[in-house]
Amino acid sequence: MSPSAGGLVVFLLSVQVIQSQDGWRVNYLKTDVCALKGSTVYISCDITHPPGIDPSDIKDRFWFTKEKDGEPVDLGTDSEYSGRVTYVCYSDSCYLTITDVRESDSAEYKLTFMTNKPGEKYTGSPGVTLSVTDSGLQVQVRRSDSTWLELTCHSSCVLSDHPEYDWFKNEENIKTGSSLLVSSGSTDRYSCDLRGSWDNGSPAVYGPQRPSVSVSPSAVMLEGDSVTLTCSTDANPAANYTWYKEHEDSPRASGQNFTITDFTAEHSGNYYCEAQNEMGRSNSTLLRIPSSGKGGCTWSTTKDIVIFVLLLIIIIVLAVPYIKRRMFPERPEQRPENGTQIPLTNAGHQEE
Ligand SMILES: *[C@@H]1O[C@H](CO)[C@@H](O)[C@H](O)[C@H]1NC(C)=O
Ligand SMILES: *[C@@H]1O[C@H](CO)[C@@H](O)[C@H](O)[C@H]1NC(C)=O
Ligand SMILES: *[C@@H]1O[C@H](CO)[C@@H](O)[C@H](O)[C@H]1NC(C)=O
Repeated sequence: MSPSAGGLVVFLLSVQVIQSQDGWRVNYLKTDVCALKGSTVYISCDITHPPGIDPSDIKDRFWFTKEKDGEPVDLGTDSEYSGRVTYVCYSDSCYLTITDVRESDSAEYKLTFMTNKPGEKYTGSPGVTLSVTDSGLQVQVRRSDSTWLELTCHSSCVLSDHPEYDWFKNEENIKTGSSLLVSSGSTDRYSCDLRGSWDNGSPAVYGPQRPSVSVSPSAVMLEGDSVTLTCSTDANPAANYTWYKEHEDSPRASGQNFTITDFTAEHSGNYYCEAQNEMGRSNSTLLRIPSSGKGGCTWSTTKDIVIFVLLLIIIIVLAVPYIKRRMFPERPEQRPENGTQIPLTNAGHQEE
């Protein structure tokens, strides 16, 4: 059934109730009440009665949520509520106070009473729906000026009274009040709690701790590869991330992961990330991205080695005849010696 259809049925039923009850009616001031666990809830209503009725004819007023054998059970007699409920009734209005509300108190509360006709009862239905939440508290951060932040405590449910909050810095109670001023850039943890309740309170808000950076894949990179730098930190509210290359003013990327596709030598260098949330910001240490991995070979170094080896071969080829000449100098010189020996012998012969 759609909510509007449900509302229509309830409306029709209540019209029927009113018609059959000769002008009796209970108007609840609020039909939906949300409360934090441990707080105090006030529920109030006005009774409309047929003309000519003396308010003193309204008797035995009480509030209930449960029925037993078709009869409403007075909250005041319910052991689950003992010591926690107070009724205050004036001539034609009634108030219910429940202190230290629990999640099990979430229910529909209705007022019932006896009318002037003997044995006739009237119940104000539909009643007031109470929802009790565990905490639902949230610290909201607003920048007050360049150095101060204003923290306020908010509930996911609309509180039925003006709540007072305790403020905590690193779990130590430092103040009571609706808001707290703190300096920005702090990594201290701030939280709020409903005054006098001993629950968890809100989650703490805090600026980012120094982010840690990592690179994936961590193995050797080749030109044309893609590489992803990841920045992470602990912060609440969650931080956003910006990537910088050392000695550059404008950011390279935003987002927790920074992927460099088509890696080139230009990409090598030192990178860092900045994590920022409403509470502050923090820069990581430098992450070094080498142009080639240690001991690894990129295509450019392979090319260099090939060129080097080729040059070496050319040099050797060119140098061999020269080296040969220098290492075995006797042989070529022997020929002219022999040549001269022949004339010498000839000369010898000539001498002989
Ligand atoms: C960043 O990458 C990691 C894995 O490397 C992944 O688990 C995470 O979800 C990514 N974060 C974002 C915001 O894309
Ligand atoms: C990051 O968050 C801060 C506030 O927390 C905001 O001022 C800033 O513009 C954000 N930066 C990016 C890149 O989303
Ligand atoms: C982080 O680095 C950026 C860019 O160099 C700079 O603007 C910012 O002030 C630095 N943040 C901190 C907290 O040092």
